[in-house]
Amino acid sequence: MANEPPSDEPPPAPFGVPELLELVAGARRVLDVGCGSGRLTVALARAVAEVTGMDTSADRLAHAVRLAEKAGVQLTLVEADMEEPLPFTDASFDAVTSRLSLMIPRDAVPTLRELGRVLEPRGRIATVVWAALPENPWFDAPREAVRAVLGDERASFARAFGRLGSPRDAERAHRAAGFDDVEGRLLREQVVRADAAEHWRLLATENGHFRRIDAALGEHERRALVVELEARLAPYHADGGLELPRTLVLVTGRRPE
Ligand SMILES: C[S@@+](CC[C@H](N)C(=O)[O-])C[C@H]1O[C@@H](n2cnc3c(N)ncnc32)[C@H](O)[C@@H]1O
Repeated sequence: MANEPPSDEPPPAPFGVPELLELVAGARRVLDVGCGSGRLTVALARAVAEVTGMDTSADRLAHAVRLAEKAGVQLTLVEADMEEPLPFTDASFDAVTSRLSLMIPRDAVPTLRELGRVLEPRGRIATVVWAALPENPWFDAPREAVRAVLGDERASFARAFGRLGSPRDAERAHRAAGFDDVEGRLLREQVVRADAAEHWRLLATENGHFRRIDAALGEHERRALVVELEARLAPYHADGGLELPRTLVLVTGRRPE
């Protein structure tokens, strides 16, 4: 928070990262698909010998390079599309991870099949995506506030949020792609905010979609948005502030022999 003194504590690991790290512990060569700016990828590289990150965004990969340099770890970064045949030979990884990107393809099964192809027999896959919108009011409420105040068009972003958003749906996709020993579960946490204005301000700082919307707002519109958000977050009042649930679907499986 803005008024807290600086701390020497490392920032907390991004949501879902500790669980993914635990699932691939012991792997030697890991592929992180849709690695973005490398938040999971760099954490993997601290724990695993050889880590490859793959993403379509050259900007985000450049950010991952800087993050890896800062952390003093080695990464191989590849600009490639998870909806195309992957640029890796068969069985070239012991484990594959993906954090918050497998919901992007309209049908994840072809991508998951490709991930199976590049895994060794009995290799591990571990993925997380956001759970369905009702499990994620921290995101759903502000986007619906944008819709109410600014209209449908301004709220038409992150439409894949919530795809594969239950353990059953995500498990089904992994099984359809040929994985064995598939198990899915929900991971839950709460974000604590003083009020709706703080939630909006932090979203507009941390999330590109909300940052772009906020940058185009006049003062009057921003006030109207926060009033709308206040009403939508009313069910989450606790201890004089807000406690907003956030939920991920975590799935793991193995490539068959
Ligand atoms: C929400 S970000 C998640 C990034 C990162 N995994 C993390 O945990 O912070 C989704 C990422 O998927 C990438 N992406 C989108 N479509 C893709 C595709 N077809 N192939 C590979 N990456 C893609 C985006 O560029 C973005 O970096």
